Amino acid sequence: MKVLMVCLGNICRSPLAEGILKHKAHENNLRIEVDSAGTAAYHVGNLPDERSIEVARKYGIDLTNQRARQFRLQDFEEFDVIYAMDSENYNNILKLASSTSDESKVKLILNEIEPNSNSSVPDPYYGGDEGFENVYQMLNLACKEIVLRLKK
Ligand code: 4NP
Repeated sequence: MKVLMVCLGNICRSPLAEGILKHKAHENNLRIEVDSAGTAAYHVGNLPDERSIEVARKYGIDLTNQRARQFRLQDFEEFDVIYAMDSENYNNILKLASSTSDESKVKLILNEIEPNSNSSVPDPYYGGDEGFENVYQMLNLACKEIVLRLKK
């Protein structure tokens, strides 16, 4: 099973989602591969945002091995599930899909905890630290649910 987490910059939300899911997979002896990417290229090669690194560190998760990369068409072949953090990125990934098989891999991550709600993980980039805590808590719940499903 290969899971890709996608946001806009790949420095705030999707690195947290990657770190949290990898951590929970490890705790549960689940052998899954997790990666993350951004639909935009602004931050390619960069470390996650310091505020994401900090909130993850607070919960015992290290994000400093991650570097931002842009989503690529090949990701449709390589991954089984592609989780978008928000509807804008969801729509932008779907525009790049070239088959119904590609399309069926793309999901909104918060639908894992609130099916069909189509809600978004808010972009915390221009806000304060509390936005990052909020994003962490949302992604923690979503990843808990993903792990529960995969264990079945
Ligand atoms: P992310 O947050 O998509 O969660 O990584 C953002 C990071 C950077 C920008 C926007 C959102 N930016 O405009 O540079």
